[in-house]
Amino acid sequence: MTKIINAAIVGTGFIGPAHLEALRRLPNIEVKALCEVDIELAKEKAATLGIPKAYTFEEMLGDPSIDVVHICTPNFLHFSQSKEALLAGKHVVCEKPLATKIEEAKELVSLAKEKGLVNAVHFNLRYYPMVRQMKNMREKGELGDIYSIMGSYLQDWLFLQTDYNWRLEPDKSGDSRAIADIGSHLLDLTEYVTGLQVTEVMADFSTVHKTRLKPLKAIETYSGKMLQESDYEEVPINTEDHATVMLRFDNGNKGSVTVSQVNAGRKNRLNIEIAGSKSNFEWCSEKPNELWIGKREKANQHLMKDPSLFHKEAAGLISFPGGHNEGFPDTSKQMFKEVYAAVREGKQPDKPSFPTFEDGYRELLICERIIESHRKQAWVKI
Ligand SMILES: NC(=O)c1ccc[n+]([C@@H]2O[C@H](COP(=O)([O-])OP(=O)(O)OC[C@H]3O[C@@H](n4cnc5c(N)ncnc54)[C@H](O)[C@@H]3O)[C@@H](O)[C@H]2O)c1
Repeated sequence: MTKIINAAIVGTGFIGPAHLEALRRLPNIEVKALCEVDIELAKEKAATLGIPKAYTFEEMLGDPSIDVVHICTPNFLHFSQSKEALLAGKHVVCEKPLATKIEEAKELVSLAKEKGLVNAVHFNLRYYPMVRQMKNMREKGELGDIYSIMGSYLQDWLFLQTDYNWRLEPDKSGDSRAIADIGSHLLDLTEYVTGLQVTEVMADFSTVHKTRLKPLKAIETYSGKMLQESDYEEVPINTEDHATVMLRFDNGNKGSVTVSQVNAGRKNRLNIEIAGSKSNFEWCSEKPNELWIGKREKANQHLMKDPSLFHKEAAGLISFPGGHNEGFPDTSKQMFKEVYAAVREGKQPDKPSFPTFEDGYRELLICERIIESHRKQAWVKI
């Protein structure tokens, strides 16, 4: 009989339940336990989400039947929780960013290597079938030499001065916000698809709302009511709402990325255009099943997600026939399929197909250099 792999989820706000749902769509995995900020909330969440055990973090680590721990908490907890989970002999899937400081990420990479345990960072956007298809097309020479890359990741959930979240507080989120939160996905995807490495960055940040109005009580308690001036406290904001970064790549060519969390109407829109000597690819995460392929000497093409039209490796990330759209929740399912195959083997593969703690470290390194570049207003080498 196939062994059931037991998982625990730490943090069940937005992304924790997305991990849960993805794991429930895969065979022979049980999400056995969850941990929350306190045990009362853990019990409440366990009942709502239908998870058998509500544990404190220490109780969860002490349960030998838990094989894998998913860290889905605010950024500042990723380092300590991943470290303790590895020390307790658990395989770890950590949310991005891997840590808030580069030294911490480095420590996690060596600890994971020393333990030989499976380690992954949830750069799930790599798992849109079209993203893998772009990578495969580039590997097979269909893009040609890469001339330039232009990326953007735009959101509007922090558009208003009254929009507030822990991500606005550097002690919880880190010294960068838009770049660390969404720029990390975009930069990871850029290097993943193109196979190029960013070698130098020149960044300029802007904090559009220099102060924000922080609710004095939990937002839910206001549901259905108008907020009064006395319900807010005005707090200074030190992290970026918007950033533009010019990039130099190791093939000698250039590119740029722009990220913003204050672009009205852009809900969660990653767009990337990669210009090559044979074609030009444009892909947008809000229409993930479509790829525009630009041509100079013949008509442009429009590829739709369809396993029969994809390269074999990319077709492996497709669960439904052409015309049946797959989206954000499917990316985690496809990623965990690869991660849990490694868990079943009991160790990190020599060449993992999934994003690892090393990739998490790389993103932190790029992010740190981007912050340094903005502060110095100068080009900085990675
Ligand atoms: N890969 C993605 O696409 C993606 C998307 C969203 C968020 N994220 C990442 O996931 C993480 C969580 O983001 P979110 O949007 O779900 O945040 P959230 O605020 O919605 O959820 C965080 C959860 O962690 C819990 N928590 C806080 N302290 C805890 C503690 N000490 N122990 C256990 N639980 C604790 C909170 O109660 C809450 O339930 C962030 O690091 C973020 O960068 C990734």
